[in-house]
Amino acid sequence: MTEPFALAAYLSRWIPAVRHDLAASDSETTTLSDLLDLAGQDDRARWRGLGFGYLDPRGADWLRGAVAARHRRLTADDVLCCAGAQEALAAVVAALLTPRDHAVVVLPIYQPSEEAVTALCGATGVALRETEGWRLDVGEVEAALTPRTRLVLMNMPNSPTGATLDATTMGDLVALCRRRGLWLVCDEVYRHTLNRAPNLAPDRAQGTAAVADLYERGISIDGLSKGFGLAGLRVGWIACRDRRLLEAALNAKNRMSSCLCAASEVLAHVALGAEARILARSRAVGTRSRARLDALIARHPETFGADASHNLAFAFPRYLGPEGADGFARDLARRAGILVLPASLWRSRLGRVPTDRLRIGLGRAGAVPALDALDRHLRVPVP
Ligand SMILES: Cc1ncc(COP(=O)(O)O)c(C=O)c1O
Repeated sequence: MTEPFALAAYLSRWIPAVRHDLAASDSETTTLSDLLDLAGQDDRARWRGLGFGYLDPRGADWLRGAVAARHRRLTADDVLCCAGAQEALAAVVAALLTPRDHAVVVLPIYQPSEEAVTALCGATGVALRETEGWRLDVGEVEAALTPRTRLVLMNMPNSPTGATLDATTMGDLVALCRRRGLWLVCDEVYRHTLNRAPNLAPDRAQGTAAVADLYERGISIDGLSKGFGLAGLRVGWIACRDRRLLEAALNAKNRMSSCLCAASEVLAHVALGAEARILARSRAVGTRSRARLDALIARHPETFGADASHNLAFAFPRYLGPEGADGFARDLARRAGILVLPASLWRSRLGRVPTDRLRIGLGRAGAVPALDALDRHLRVPVP
């Protein structure tokens, strides 16, 4: 039996039981009719003529072209569409890793991503340095390499910490990977909700460029599930300049799902065409929630540490109460019907991950009323 997926199990247990969801990391979704209102002529024609046979397993060329256009020097043939970012990541690691290989995984990371690697080969975890603002020490990555290391995997911008890499660190990491002939695989699903407010120094923003644009062996994993609020479309992708890698990933992906859903391809194309509008809305929601959370934290300094995460999808403050983050989160769900995620859910077998923090989702329209409910709960003395 495989290890339980702690985060998914927690959500299944608590989502039906709570009134307020501060667990989500995706942005507020949209209705089909609102999305179709954003469609141009070509997409309207595609939608009207939609059929449901098997499709190009790589994704329609017009969809891959729209993804490629978001990168600096990619074309449609440098993109492989998959059923969500998670399938994209699974296809990449399946294409690259054998039991003889070794991988370095930057922690914390989404549990299924770590397990996609460790199911295939040995791996070493390198933790972001909490005491230094979740800095990645590239020297530690180098020290973890073995002659068998084939790839470095990270999720950046990172969940749950909200960390980003500054341009120097990203440059050093790319230089290390290039020197050692390593693939650099980056799950970039939280780039769309990066907080570009003044607290994000310009070099931090540069450091969040897609790795496929920075490095010939950089593999960017992305999709529409988070900032676009379209997780139900199940559209993700791999972007990489190396065509042989994409061929091998296609070979792996074809064993999981042969093609995307035809309706999702059209709707994904509509969303990419309306990216500025959709993301502006997501950012507006996230910005409002973040302001409300900052005010709440300022009112309850005995309960929460300040949050410095660089993302509008979620925050990751330290919980300071005596019962610890796990106990608080469970009690909050049970007594107040408010769901937040204790950091311990980011399980890892490769290293220590923080356990004294809470990930608080900011992207949904319901986040502000949920934060107000949390504020009221914190004002009520514990019986
Ligand atoms: C870091 C990270 N990567 C990937 C995923 C899954 O993305 P998708 O729904 O597009 O497969 C998640 C979902 O929570 C995530 O947090």
